[in-house]
Amino acid sequence: MNTTRFNDILAAFSIALDQVEHEMLGVSDHHAKRVAYITAKMCQTAHLSQDLQIDAAACALLHDNALTESQSTLRGDKDWQSKWPGIPETGLHCAMGARNMANLPTTSDIRGFIRFHHENADGSGPFGLTTDATPLPARMIHLADQLDRTLNLGMWTPDKAAVITAYLDQNRGNVFDAATLELFQDALSVNDLAALSSPTIDAMVAGLIPTRDIAYSGSELAHIATLFARITDYKSSFTCSHSMGIANKARRMAAFYHYDPEVVERYYVAGALHDVGKLMIPNRILEKPGPLTKDEYTIMKKHASYSFKVLNPIKGFEDITVWACRHHEKLDGSGYPFGLTAKDLTQPERLMACIDIYQALVEDRPYKEGMTHQTTMKILNNMVNDGQIDGGITADIDTVFG
Ligand SMILES: [Fe+2]
Ligand SMILES: [Fe+2]
Ligand SMILES: [Fe+2]
Ligand SMILES: [Fe+2]
Repeated sequence: MNTTRFNDILAAFSIALDQVEHEMLGVSDHHAKRVAYITAKMCQTAHLSQDLQIDAAACALLHDNALTESQSTLRGDKDWQSKWPGIPETGLHCAMGARNMANLPTTSDIRGFIRFHHENADGSGPFGLTTDATPLPARMIHLADQLDRTLNLGMWTPDKAAVITAYLDQNRGNVFDAATLELFQDALSVNDLAALSSPTIDAMVAGLIPTRDIAYSGSELAHIATLFARITDYKSSFTCSHSMGIANKARRMAAFYHYDPEVVERYYVAGALHDVGKLMIPNRILEKPGPLTKDEYTIMKKHASYSFKVLNPIKGFEDITVWACRHHEKLDGSGYPFGLTAKDLTQPERLMACIDIYQALVEDRPYKEGMTHQTTMKILNNMVNDGQIDGGITADIDTVFG
């Protein structure tokens, strides 16, 4: 079992989520990291345990992990209230986000940290909780989140410290409680606040959060990857079940080959993560109804290298990263992003490429119904004959999914 650093996984999440929040909420780049930085500083000052510091920072980085999911639900599911009884619209991403966090191997019970990250001190938030009922990390995240969304701490100006003080004073008692405000003031000097606009905010956050190295089992990694896949899939109704479809099919194929159960789970993880780079592609391109222009296609193709950028820094994910990020490579060298050829492409990478095409063709999209297995196999077999994809794997896909 490989050791993986939980912090690396968090960092990967935040690179991916950054883009989503930027696109969907209009917050400036690195919003989640600034929220995490402020929260981590406050946790230190409050002398929370190391485990709690890690978990609170994780929640700060992922406070809006269900943004894509909730927006897609509100857009597409008229019946969502019966599935989320008693949850107000403004609290849907909080409730979904809290449920998703159960996929992460944390040590504390962190559900309330995400669920209540929009509660106001006077009880006027989505769930009507007042200060005493709201966990401290949730109150920290709330303060950091509101502050950054309102005042954009990613851009530092000489008057910013005064503007922050005025804003906090104005909202004392109604939005923020006195104890959290005091903690914020003790934890962050003016220099710390100015540093939030630094281009090295990633490294600053990483340096603040205590590290946690764990030998995750295959099934624990699969849970983490499922969270990534959900975020990716919900970004656009055009990709709504694509990552999960690939993950499940990769797992089935690996089981078909009788691989060791731990390896089977790693196939699932690679499948779940293969298109995580699509979080960095704007929806206007992902969802364009007509054919893409040359420039748009160039941007679209970048998702594969973005996936690499997100996954490559995760220690212990070396195999998974390569399997996941070569899913658009072709045996004849016509693929991307690296233009690799048959001699470079191993079995799992060839498998991901075949499954990616298979899944894309059989799944429903808003503008088309999924193809049947038979029609899909014809297209795959043509690609085999053209020397683009692996013939043996394609035959096995026919056997397993036929
Ligand atoms: Fe939020
Ligand atoms: Fe936020
Ligand atoms: Fe892809
Ligand atoms: Fe894909």
